[in-house]
Amino acid sequence: MHKSVVALSAGLITGANAFWRMECPGRVGLARMDPIVNPGEVSTHVHAIHGSSGFSENADTSSLLAGDCTSCRVTQDKSSYWHPALYFQNADTGKYEIVQQVGGMLAYYLLYGDNITAFPSGFRMLSGSNDRRNYTVGDPNQPDRPKSLWGSMKQTTQDDLAQRAIGFNCLNYDKTPEGTLYRHYMPDKAYLDANCKDGLRFETMFPSCWKGGNAKDSPNHKDHVAFPDLVMTGTCPEDYPVRLPSLLYEVIWDTAAFQGKNGQFVLANGDTTGYGYHGDFMMGWDEAFLQKAVNTCTNPSGKIEDCPLFNVVDQGKATSCDMQLPLPQVLIGENVKGPVAKLPGSVEAGGDSGDNGNGHASSSAAPMPTLTYAPGERPSNSASPLPGQIFKDKSSPSAAAPTTPTSAATYGAEATYGVEAAPDVQPTTPPPPPPATTPAPETKSYYSTQYVTNGNVVSKILWEEQFVYVTEYADTTTTVESPAGAAGGRRRRGAHLHGHRHGKLLH
Ligand SMILES: *[C@@H]1O[C@H](CO)[C@@H](O)[C@H](O)[C@H]1NC(C)=O
Ligand SMILES: *[C@@H]1O[C@H](CO)[C@@H](O)[C@H](O)[C@H]1NC(C)=O
Repeated sequence: MHKSVVALSAGLITGANAFWRMECPGRVGLARMDPIVNPGEVSTHVHAIHGSSGFSENADTSSLLAGDCTSCRVTQDKSSYWHPALYFQNADTGKYEIVQQVGGMLAYYLLYGDNITAFPSGFRMLSGSNDRRNYTVGDPNQPDRPKSLWGSMKQTTQDDLAQRAIGFNCLNYDKTPEGTLYRHYMPDKAYLDANCKDGLRFETMFPSCWKGGNAKDSPNHKDHVAFPDLVMTGTCPEDYPVRLPSLLYEVIWDTAAFQGKNGQFVLANGDTTGYGYHGDFMMGWDEAFLQKAVNTCTNPSGKIEDCPLFNVVDQGKATSCDMQLPLPQVLIGENVKGPVAKLPGSVEAGGDSGDNGNGHASSSAAPMPTLTYAPGERPSNSASPLPGQIFKDKSSPSAAAPTTPTSAATYGAEATYGVEAAPDVQPTTPPPPPPATTPAPETKSYYSTQYVTNGNVVSKILWEEQFVYVTEYADTTTTVESPAGAAGGRRRRGAHLHGHRHGKLLH
């Protein structure tokens, strides 16, 4: 099954941009705990926690490593991954209840850049800001400007990039997917009901540039790391010369289960906008092992099974892993699932995070922006999509060929799979980047997995493992001279819809 070959623009194609997709089907906890921000105390809000059973309010790398299991599927990964939980506030009762999480979470380890250095032992970091309730890098009703313009538009400060590192992907598996990090706010209930029948995917990109040395953390848990200038890829700031694995969290919440119910979605920190979404990472790999994995696990499939180093366990094993230590006394008996009259920690919906009582009052008063659906751009290079492009693909045989009213560039979409894809269209380039701007290196994109939920307690997960079949289907890659004269190759994978697996809704 040969797929088509396409021309593309300027590209620095430097071998495979590999990655692996850490699957964390289970949660080890749903609790007001955050050993990075509130070590030894309770957290202000509830987090969904994945990874090592050694997690606790005092966790550090060594206690994570000492955990006897992980809710992720690779036993050597004892890292912790956590993020605020999502609640639905019923307008009729005023009460909050937890939204079910579909399939746990995925932590992508994207190996962008050269000479990638493993997270050092003891490393931890945050992405996103608990207190943020606005978007200041342009009009959130409009898609971001093309990445090639970010530099000239002065949209590459760390504050800008951090806001662009958060995304909310409206899932409707009948359509071509939206691009990753396309929308930076949480759509309101009416929009979700009308458009996102398969739920909402929360996306958090982490910084991948590091100061190096002993900077395993910093007072705000962010300043020791920085984003490269295109959020996922690009150039690191000078003071952050060390390239780390690029982490991307994806978490699907079953917002669709509340269709037709009157109310609103609220993050555990009270945020109704989504701008205050964030993620936490604490290193729990053996450092030398992780470095070996970075150097070895370069199969472009991204499948953990394709890395010879990983000891991969099944979903049942991962979901049976729980936090070993008891909850802190004050959290025992805290009703984190609801329905409850107040969010755990007495957080108020629409209020601010409680961390700084000034500034942004009830943000729920302001109407949420509306950024309508647009099919994501096809990444021009299949191992390395960029923000705004389709990061994960849905092999929906019925997906219509996209039209792209808003995005700057459309790459021909595979309207149907198994059919020779239409030759890619050169991007209808927006205003050409000013000379000072270096065009984004186009690298390979890839397709990967997506969950589908039926909204039932045990839901089917439709995995689209285009890459599963990489070794089974021949690919052709041809290098074609692009109109711009730059040579680049694009590999198109045999997209494949395959069977169902049972996935577990976490609730
Ligand atoms: C790779 O990165 C490490 C820092 O993690 C640095 O010490 C080393 O010099 C780098 N090697 C190359 C070839 O750039
Ligand atoms: C936007 O949020 C940031 C971070 O919370 C804050 O510092 C800033 O004042 C806010 N800007 C506006 C215009 O509200």
